[in-house]
Amino acid sequence: METRSIRGFHDVLPEEIKRWHHIEEEAKSVFELHGFSELRMPVLEFTEIFARSLGTTTDIVEKEMYTFQDRDGSSLTLRPEGTAGVVRAYIENSMWARSPVTKLYYTGMMFRHERPQKGRFRGFYQIGAELLGPEEPPSDAELIAMVWKLLEGIGITKYLKLELSSLGDDNCRPRYKEMLIAFFTPEKERLCEDCRRRLGTNPLRILDCKVKGCREIAARAPRMIDNLCGDCSRHLAEVRENLDSVGVPYVINPGIVRGLDYYTRTVFEITTEELGSQNAVAAGGRYDGLVEELGGPRTPAVGFAVGMERLILLHQMAFPGGFGREIRVFIAHMGEEARKKAFQLASELRGRGVATETDYGQKSLKSQLKRADKSGAGLTFIIGEDELNRGVVKVRNMSASTEEEMDFGSALELASQSD
Ligand code: HAM
Repeated sequence: METRSIRGFHDVLPEEIKRWHHIEEEAKSVFELHGFSELRMPVLEFTEIFARSLGTTTDIVEKEMYTFQDRDGSSLTLRPEGTAGVVRAYIENSMWARSPVTKLYYTGMMFRHERPQKGRFRGFYQIGAELLGPEEPPSDAELIAMVWKLLEGIGITKYLKLELSSLGDDNCRPRYKEMLIAFFTPEKERLCEDCRRRLGTNPLRILDCKVKGCREIAARAPRMIDNLCGDCSRHLAEVRENLDSVGVPYVINPGIVRGLDYYTRTVFEITTEELGSQNAVAAGGRYDGLVEELGGPRTPAVGFAVGMERLILLHQMAFPGGFGREIRVFIAHMGEEARKKAFQLASELRGRGVATETDYGQKSLKSQLKRADKSGAGLTFIIGEDELNRGVVKVRNMSASTEEEMDFGSALELASQSD
């Protein structure tokens, strides 16, 4: 048997994990500032939850879900995204009855059977947030401003563009669908096989087709944003006004269609030109009909998700090299007595909250210093028999390349100060 992971799945290795933690912590702190609480939900749901939420004619539901039969015959699916599960939990736990506004965030692995490439995986991580209850435009704006704040906080907005649009609602979308059918029907023979079928089932999905010929025709199609009803136009204008008032930069992109069917009104994508064809780093929008669709009371909602792997790629560009030194002190020692002292000092330092490493055996000083260097420690303590007898330790400042002898107490004090 070949020992390898499944195609499209990946490990996050220890040398990269600091970056992940940094972003996750930043997200948590920004979300909590906005009153969001974490929801942890299962990675498996009944298939129907996703089929009904995302739409049976979307690419995800038609081609990309990891679906299998449970032992009792029920159909289960590994979550391809988080929103459907959040809404299921919201309904099942009657969260709507507790408060008119519910703010939830989540992080975790999602699963889509797509063709893997740079920035695109079959098992990937998202951080997402959903704001359930309000319908008013400031809620859309608050959520979008929150994503932007997160991306600013991790220092990558220089690579990003925030694109905004509206997909209308139950009032104006049916009319727009008719317009699309009227537009595409004379072009039917030139559409791909999938789109010919979509013309009868879900003409909006033609706008999201990746086939070149279909894209060329779709570029001339009527646009939803030009055919919004009065309420939807006003809603979009107010979202924009609110974003402007807090200085969040965006552009209107009437071409946003989104790959999921649950959206109404506001949709947005945060894109980059740095990652080739996988240009969306974050995306989301309003989904006012979904809670009702899954059996809950009518509850408007808006949310988004960011793709962690794509954020990480941009973060690596912005902050190349090792990220986040973990070890502060490395203790090198020579001789059995010094090793014992090193063991005690390491324990003392860790007790003071200072991340410390030492050698467990009797390696040569040269190899210990090499490890100290690699560990990223800012300080290296060196103790030999002579130092031990005199109650001192050599303290090497690794970045300044200076060395100083100190008594144990002073060395511990110095290491306990933050760098
Ligand atoms: P989505 O656009 O399907 O939306 O995914 C959101 C983000 O997840 C994308 O912008 C991308 O960064 C990342 N992503 C998606 N697929 C992959 C993949 N195969 N590999 C790596 N990253 C990927 C949603 O999932 C919605 N649930 C967002 C939302 C929440 N809308 C309302 N609430």
